[in-house]
Amino acid sequence: MSDPRIPKLYHRSTPSWEQRQRESFWILNEGKTVPFNTRPDKLEALARECLSRNGRLYAESNAGNSWTHLANRQAFYRHRIISHQLVDTNERDTTTTLFGHRCAAPIGFAPIGINKIYNGAGEIPVAKVAGELQLPYGLSTAGSTSIEDVAAANDEGRTIPQAVHVEGSDDKPIRFYQLYMPHDDELTISLLRRAHNSGFTACILTTDTWQLGWRHDDVATSNYAFYRGIGADLGLTDPVFQKRLEEAGIDPKKEPERASAKWIDENVWHGRAFSWEKIPWLIKTWKEISGGAPFLIKGIQSVHDAQKCVEIGCDGIVVSNHAGRQVDGAIASLDALENIVNAGIGEKLVVTFDSGVRGASDVIKALCLGAKFVWVGRLWIWGLSIMGEEGVRHVMRNLLAEFDISMAIGGFRNVDEFTKDRLESYIKSYSLIDEKAKL
Ligand code: GLV
Repeated sequence: MSDPRIPKLYHRSTPSWEQRQRESFWILNEGKTVPFNTRPDKLEALARECLSRNGRLYAESNAGNSWTHLANRQAFYRHRIISHQLVDTNERDTTTTLFGHRCAAPIGFAPIGINKIYNGAGEIPVAKVAGELQLPYGLSTAGSTSIEDVAAANDEGRTIPQAVHVEGSDDKPIRFYQLYMPHDDELTISLLRRAHNSGFTACILTTDTWQLGWRHDDVATSNYAFYRGIGADLGLTDPVFQKRLEEAGIDPKKEPERASAKWIDENVWHGRAFSWEKIPWLIKTWKEISGGAPFLIKGIQSVHDAQKCVEIGCDGIVVSNHAGRQVDGAIASLDALENIVNAGIGEKLVVTFDSGVRGASDVIKALCLGAKFVWVGRLWIWGLSIMGEEGVRHVMRNLLAEFDISMAIGGFRNVDEFTKDRLESYIKSYSLIDEKAKL
């Protein structure tokens, strides 16, 4: 384990993330302990204790029997990492470049709605820590903090003393706006304008959640924060949606439930799917507003759809099955990634990956299978639920340390060395379900 008191022996383009391990071991001598255990099963268990019943149920919600979630986890289990020994990893580099922006690692904060049910401060601490760590942040249209306030928190993260500097980066935060597209074009344009004016780097259209999947526990307990007046913040702060409320005679101060229901039912998961015909309009609109910023589609699971994304002019895709929360019994997102990359899509646009990531080895496996970048969701939600800003920081700094150490001991010097031949992959036989796969 490296000792920071030894004069600098090597050069890194980021802080030495792995020092966190040493610090964690050392602090007992100073009468301190680490905030909490980030081993995913224990992290989840602790988060469950800290949350209200509704927060807990929503955080752990999956579609139907949770088969898709299970498939997501099992697929990781099917691939094993092949280490290389006697590789000089001292100057290893965790950084990557995403759409021209330098990030500290190929890891981002996946867009997740209504953070306020996990912590009263909502998306603010999350966006702030993402900025601090120079990791991309995704804001959902179903978020519970306005676009402008999230952007300000993300910027603020860059100004705090422990903010990470990535060599060669302009030190600007990288943020993605995840659009749930309303059937009200004026409102869509307004949301996109606000995102661009607030410095969002790219737009992601999510296409797997025109309607929420069937989630037994939420249905059985009427667990729907939006009908309790929580989670309409992007709408309530939007001039076009404010006009729509006025037209409908709804005063959000007097009737927060009705206002919030109008937002979610009519504009977010409105139950009315779009088709490919609408996408050129959206791309053109976003490109005009943003001066050509990247446009991605999220929820892609088939080669067919990935090819459509290429043809239609997307800059990237997010291979995601919404973390198993939408279609139950679906293929593992990691298997979808493999199919899509094998079809050569990664040479035509930027393929990013989401769903089921629980640790650094999962990130590495997705990268080896051809993802350029990996989104992490539930891990930081659990950290947020346990300890707010400090909890998110603790989870993500530990994940970066684990990633860095895995590179050091696995013989990976930089992200280009995550290649398919560094995995041994077994056949898709999921009959043996290891308990750990259920995490
Ligand atoms: C929304 O994105 C959800 O999965 O609940």
